[in-house]
Amino acid sequence: MSDTKAFFLTTPIYYVNDAPHIGHAYTTTAGDVLTRWHRQRGERVWFLTGVDEHGQKVMRSAEANGVTPQEWADRLVETAWLPVLDTIDAANDDFIRTTEPRHTERVQRFLTGLKDRGEIYEGAYDGPYCVACEEFKLPGDLVDGVGDYAGEKVCAIHGRPVEQVSETNWFFRLSAYGDKLLAHYEANPLAVQPQSAYNEVTSFLRGGLQDLSISRSTFDWGIPVPWDEKQVVYVWFDALLNYATAVGLGDEPGTPGAEQFAATWPADVHLVGKDILRFHAIIWPAMLMAAGLPLPKQVFAHGWLLVGGEKMSKTKLTGIAPATIVDHFGSDAFRYYFLRAIAFGADGSFSWEDMSARYTSELANGLGNLASRAPAMVAKYREGLLPVATAYTDAEVALQTLLASTVETADESMLRLDFAGAIGAVKAFVDAINLYVTEQAPWVLAKDEADAERLSTVLYTICESLRAIAVLHHAVMPKATTSLWEQIGADVALGPIGEQVVTDAGCWGQLPPGTTITKGAILFPRLDEPAV
Ligand code: ME8
Ligand code: MG
Repeated sequence: MSDTKAFFLTTPIYYVNDAPHIGHAYTTTAGDVLTRWHRQRGERVWFLTGVDEHGQKVMRSAEANGVTPQEWADRLVETAWLPVLDTIDAANDDFIRTTEPRHTERVQRFLTGLKDRGEIYEGAYDGPYCVACEEFKLPGDLVDGVGDYAGEKVCAIHGRPVEQVSETNWFFRLSAYGDKLLAHYEANPLAVQPQSAYNEVTSFLRGGLQDLSISRSTFDWGIPVPWDEKQVVYVWFDALLNYATAVGLGDEPGTPGAEQFAATWPADVHLVGKDILRFHAIIWPAMLMAAGLPLPKQVFAHGWLLVGGEKMSKTKLTGIAPATIVDHFGSDAFRYYFLRAIAFGADGSFSWEDMSARYTSELANGLGNLASRAPAMVAKYREGLLPVATAYTDAEVALQTLLASTVETADESMLRLDFAGAIGAVKAFVDAINLYVTEQAPWVLAKDEADAERLSTVLYTICESLRAIAVLHHAVMPKATTSLWEQIGADVALGPIGEQVVTDAGCWGQLPPGTTITKGAILFPRLDEPAV
């Protein structure tokens, strides 16, 4: 194993109470794009995703379907949560399930360690609990219900009534960590992003923390508390630990687990939706502080995909299946659209019309058209062989300069998780090349033998630009860019696209003259309107 620490990115582990919708796919897609980008910066990367199988929410779904929770989880993982990774073309390095022994054993050991350190004590919990959130609520967290629930206090996220819990449980001394967390965030403002999330977390911390019940005794679907087997570990305490158990938390020095932990922890980015920000930016780092472990470098909370102005949700049955969109537009367009059309961090609504419009203008007409014209012209005017560029004019020099700044903007935006900024910069370069084609009119140059060298320079410039575009868009659209890469002969000339370093994409002149250019499949076919 290499001695440099991997860039370690996680998604939430999703509840298997039901199948994924585009909200879950959105987080995983963003993580996949960012990790592909880091791989193409030449970094070692570890991309973890997975599922959260314990807790009452999953247990009740199983009961409602007449099977055991484990059968239910197995079924959902096999038929829905693993397949969706293929649907959206995610290249995760690991997939953790919280019922796996590697997780349950490490959770139990961690918990025992905290108890030994005096961080855990027995107490009584009496108060509201939202099963959809799997969260102990404070009265101030609740809002007035509407419709069926008028007159009741309900969860602000799910709009459902909460349940009263009154149990003797094990408690974690969370209250001891409020000031330490605040000091940590004041010293490390990038540790919670975007700014709105940072503000929410720091203002919550200023209000002071209460100790946290970390076990439940009224049902048994969970990890047994090692010293009190009548209790199961609170599902969030169990779930948050996945980020560390998946990479070997607490294993004996010299074991593979310990080596992996040293080479991976701490996480560089925990990607989450803003619904679960506080768990990640307050409870999780406090657990790590209590155990004396390094804290994650960043928690990034993105916004919600909305339906009718509300968070799309499994609980409210408002989810759109990712395959509904991918079957029509393809996985590349799915990835491109959601990261381009919604500023990462803000809420956004999915609209079929908006997606169709962007698909047609930016992908089919913009990039797709450029990618199909270039090989066609090289075939027609140069027998499919990339010509030599002789003398560059101001027009080409301007494009080379634009490319260099595009690479800088894209990289700097990606590192800030400004996906829309990065994609927009590359799109602007595509537009500039399309304009260049129109202005240089190769088909006019082709009519006069005196313009032969000029035509060669123009054709080279277009193909070399496509080389850079393929590299810069590869993290977002792996399939289309791999096809484009082959069409311009770059796989033979330069090697696999995934190994091209993004920060070098602006170095002009990489595609060697003489390369065989072949017209291949259309990247983004024009689509009929859906039948519905
Ligand atoms: O909270 N818009 O799991 P979960 C955007 N198991 N993203 C959305 C979304 C929406 N409408 N709906 C869901 C849990 N997501 C816990 C997590 S982690 C240690 C345990 C995404 O199935 C988003 O990332 O409710 C959100 O935070 C996550 O799915 C919640 O998934
Ligand atoms: Mg949820």
